[in-house]
Amino acid sequence: MKSKISFLLLLLSLTVNLMAQIPANYDESKVPDLILPDPFVSLKGNPILTVEDWENIRRPEILVLFEENVYGQIPTDFDDISFSEMTKSQNPYPNTAILKEVDIKVSRGGKTHTMRLNVFIPKNGKGPFPVFLLINYQAPYADGKLVEEGFWAVKELVEKGYATASFHVETVAPDDKNRFSKGVIERLYPEQLGQKDGMRALGAWGWGAMRAMDYFEKESLIDANRAVLVGHSRSGKAALWASANDTRWAVTIPNESGCGGAALSKRKFGETVQVINTAFPHWFNDNFKAFNGKEELLPLDQHMLVSLVAPRAIYFSSAREDRWADPKGEYLSMKLGSRVFPFIYGKKVSFPLDFEELKEPVIQPFAGYHIREGEHDLTLEDWKSYMDFVEMNLGKNDK
Ligand code: GCU
Repeated sequence: MKSKISFLLLLLSLTVNLMAQIPANYDESKVPDLILPDPFVSLKGNPILTVEDWENIRRPEILVLFEENVYGQIPTDFDDISFSEMTKSQNPYPNTAILKEVDIKVSRGGKTHTMRLNVFIPKNGKGPFPVFLLINYQAPYADGKLVEEGFWAVKELVEKGYATASFHVETVAPDDKNRFSKGVIERLYPEQLGQKDGMRALGAWGWGAMRAMDYFEKESLIDANRAVLVGHSRSGKAALWASANDTRWAVTIPNESGCGGAALSKRKFGETVQVINTAFPHWFNDNFKAFNGKEELLPLDQHMLVSLVAPRAIYFSSAREDRWADPKGEYLSMKLGSRVFPFIYGKKVSFPLDFEELKEPVIQPFAGYHIREGEHDLTLEDWKSYMDFVEMNLGKNDK
């Protein structure tokens, strides 16, 4: 009996180990043939050819597919929202920027959640200024510092006449599988926890971006009609989902957002659905787990998220050594998803080059892409291309 139990325990630990080390595929020749759902055919099988059919039939269908199968809902109802300026930290750029630390207080059903937004507004020029919001999950806040240059290029943005804001994901929902609900989810939307398609961490961070947008709409120095949503990696996934839900964002830029973000899941290159659901079960909804190892059964793929952002501008960026995030899968998803611009909206967008041929950033109206050399990170080089893309799409700033 004892030996039977230890044999079972051994088997169990071998399985757990195997799970932990599911080898990632980095071999292009092993990528399965791609059979992707067609964004331009409705669930009933009808072709979608007009803006009217797209916006009334197909776009809402695709949004629900993502909500049910991948990310979960983003509830948007609440009773009250208020903003108070609480500046406490030292402004690292006193000569060029005004720093506002804003507490955003949201109440629902008698409960209140407060999130903190840090905002830099150019001192020179009269505004209202276009704004970049970065959903952040990096350390600086935890150390009491507001900015880690490069990752959040405040100095360069402000000098170019942009306002910029950022919140840390912890202020909305902790990035931890045991604690993720201990923010806005338990406090304001507890009923979501019992739902298989309920809000989870990525949705909660997207909710935070929406509340930041509510603040931009109230702040007279900010032009909320020219707002850019940026996220890196896990927060890039959240930015993409937030913008699919909230059409107030004029430009959406997920950087190296990889699996569950920009990259096509059905390529199973680098990180896979099973790997991400095992390591980060709190990011996506419960239904997404059913696709562990079964990407081919997903009734969608990530190129369809690009199409949800249209006709607003969208830009993906990758890094050459960041194979975990599948740069080619990110490019293909942009290339395929952005067909919504010519097909539906009659706007010229084209990505004529194959992934292997790309050298320069593709900066054009509506949809863009770059891959830079180096590792997984958000860098000044990335921000410079974002500013070029934003200037092309939202116009030059009159500083
Ligand atoms: C992990 C995770 C990725 C994620 C990344 C990040 O590597 O597997 O999906 O994008 O963390 O957020 O930096």
